[in-house]
Amino acid sequence: MIEFHLETSSRARTAIRCGDFLRGDFGPVPRTVLIVVDRAAASAHRERIDAVRATCPASVIREVDGGEASKALAFVESLWTTLAEARIDRNGVVVAVGGGALLDAAAFAAATWLRGVDLILVPTTLTGQVDAGLGGKSAVNFGSLKNQVGVIRAPFALWVDTGFLASLPETEWVSGLGEVAKTALLAGDPLWTRTLQDAAALRSRDPARLSAVVEASLRFKASVVRDDPFDDGRRMILNAGHTLGHVLESAAMRRDVPMPHGVAVSIGLHLESRVVPGFDIEAVRRMTAALGLPSEPPFRVSRDEAIDALAGDKKRRGASIRVPVVEAPGVVSFHAASPDALAAAFED
Ligand SMILES: NC(=O)c1ccc[n+]([C@@H]2O[C@H](COP(=O)([O-])OP(=O)(O)OC[C@H]3O[C@@H](n4cnc5c(N)ncnc54)[C@H](O)[C@@H]3O)[C@@H](O)[C@H]2O)c1
Ligand SMILES: [Zn+2]
Repeated sequence: MIEFHLETSSRARTAIRCGDFLRGDFGPVPRTVLIVVDRAAASAHRERIDAVRATCPASVIREVDGGEASKALAFVESLWTTLAEARIDRNGVVVAVGGGALLDAAAFAAATWLRGVDLILVPTTLTGQVDAGLGGKSAVNFGSLKNQVGVIRAPFALWVDTGFLASLPETEWVSGLGEVAKTALLAGDPLWTRTLQDAAALRSRDPARLSAVVEASLRFKASVVRDDPFDDGRRMILNAGHTLGHVLESAAMRRDVPMPHGVAVSIGLHLESRVVPGFDIEAVRRMTAALGLPSEPPFRVSRDEAIDALAGDKKRRGASIRVPVVEAPGVVSFHAASPDALAAAFED
């Protein structure tokens, strides 16, 4: 028997640019570019889309319906067709402009096309800007299983323009605040205190406060991902509120009712803080209340339904699921909980 190792450098560098401008730098080599744009973002921000387009030397643009329905293999397949028609080769680039759902689907298509072409993400929702755009995770849903099929591959660049956020519907805004709340709980000070102080300004979308919080959130996420790019260690703290949040999202999908991701995370944080030992319930209450976020599921989920959904959880190892515990703002540990114990958060 022989054993040897192959070590390669991973191409995992993302250039992050924040500001109220978007300018591409595609280098001296001609590259074919496919721009995939969320229709809602495009119709509200023609000039911004034109600015992105102007920087792409040879581009094909496709407007699509974003939202959770776009996170499906059928949509990814239609993107592969467009990539073929646009003759995107190994030197090509995909630029995805939209909410977290569209970014996830487009990133998955780009990561699998020719085993991976360069990707630039331009998030247009608050969730996309503080969370989904950074970290290289992409996935689509499989039936009612959230994020079941996906890969990890870092985007080549992330362009964050908070100007996109002015047109977000209120429900999407509140959803983004759910991820902001989670980030502040995980990061602790100075983001924790600043988010509490600026909560009213954030709820009313004050542009100056907003840019500062988006940038600080990105810096925090970057620091976590840098230490654990493949999500098998500390990066799993970013799943706070997501274990039971995903149960709610799956339940909502089955009931065909809307459940914005960040809202599910906010309720998930409350539910987890009730059944996971050591959780700082008071901190969860304080931050979510300040940001005007909900704490209770809007429909009834039975314990059996919750146990069923938890059985498919990607964080499950054997009989238990590793759940991040926010012991205090900025102090996070893990607790191995059984699906039964977690499902107790839902009343029968
Ligand atoms: N990959 C990751 O690391 C990661 C992290 C967090 C969330 N996510 C995923 O992101 C998704 C949620 O993303 P989301 O909250 O951005 O929602 P979304 O992408 O579903 O978009 C919500 C709605 O807003 C519209 N929209 C987008 N930009 C707009 C704009 N500027 N103005 C007006 N309308 C606009 C979209 O068309 C859509 O209807 C979930 O599927 C979640 O799993 C992924
Ligand atoms: Zn999330």
